[in-house]
Amino acid sequence: MSLTRLEEVRRAFLADLDAAGPDAAAIEEVRVRYAGRRSGVLQELTAVLRTLPNEEKREYGRALNELKKLVESKLRAAKERASSSGRAASRPVIDVTLPGHVPPRGAEHPVHLVRRRIESIFLRMGYSVEDGPEIEDDWHNFEALNLPPDHPARDDQDTFYLPGSSLLRTHTSPVQARVMEKHAPPIRIVVPGRVYRRDSDLRHSPMFHQLEGLVVDEGITFGHLKATLEAFLKELFHGVEVRFRPSYFPFTEPSAEVDITCIFCGGKGCGVCSRSGWIEILGSGMVDPRVFEKIGIDADRYTGFAFGLGLDRVAMLLYGIPDLRLMFSGDQRVTRQFA
Ligand code: DAH
Repeated sequence: MSLTRLEEVRRAFLADLDAAGPDAAAIEEVRVRYAGRRSGVLQELTAVLRTLPNEEKREYGRALNELKKLVESKLRAAKERASSSGRAASRPVIDVTLPGHVPPRGAEHPVHLVRRRIESIFLRMGYSVEDGPEIEDDWHNFEALNLPPDHPARDDQDTFYLPGSSLLRTHTSPVQARVMEKHAPPIRIVVPGRVYRRDSDLRHSPMFHQLEGLVVDEGITFGHLKATLEAFLKELFHGVEVRFRPSYFPFTEPSAEVDITCIFCGGKGCGVCSRSGWIEILGSGMVDPRVFEKIGIDADRYTGFAFGLGLDRVAMLLYGIPDLRLMFSGDQRVTRQFA
């Protein structure tokens, strides 16, 4: 009969609430099951009232009211206990609807992007990519390249000397010497890498990047140098004009500095090119026969050309980066723009 049903529900409710313990989510489930507005058990029991004969209604109604009060007060007490016992005591709730954790994505550094672009141009021309040590000795960094002991570049104002006789290479040119010591011509290489000088301002950093090129074979002429560098620069900077200016480097003779028409004003003259219309981009020349002699390559049989350029400077030009130091700041607001 209907009163026993009420008693059953009372027991079941108390057992369920007990089983829920201090877990707020489980208590809420119990609440919905019994006191839920739509299809809670109490709702069902209330509906039964109308179907009862009049003589049973009064007693059933009273018992039902009592049960409702009990459910209400037990639930309230259980919820209070749950919130005061805190999260630690309840079992962890895994919310499967939360969006997943997305790990931040890295980006290639602008200097690395430029390096790969340049490497790919020379790889297509049949060059190979070499590297060499950043801690160098005097022989490879200076002596073999025809920089005499009294050359100003050897000043410790410019060079980081390490204890003993080693130093941090001041350019990538020593790798020329290392490769020529190991391999007989023909040689066609480019050498990207870090170099070090005691210098720091808007356009100089104590560590920066260069790319060296070297070609040695029979019959190499200044014409090869010109054609190669022109083709390279026109591809890298999309159709600029290229000009060669006589210059001096201890390891090349003759030597030339190479300019491109300013990529910002197209050669008309602007702030970036100091109104000249031209931007200096690399140093180059025919390998000085004295370098071949020092290394033991037959200078009567072989000739060659070499060049060196600053990768950081190319990156600044290509991507419009105003301050060299920004590139080595590790600031993700800079590098993220290259993703
Ligand atoms: N090593 C020179 C520098 O650091 C750059 C350079 C100039 C490299 C002329 C060369 C070259 O190979 O032929 O400024």
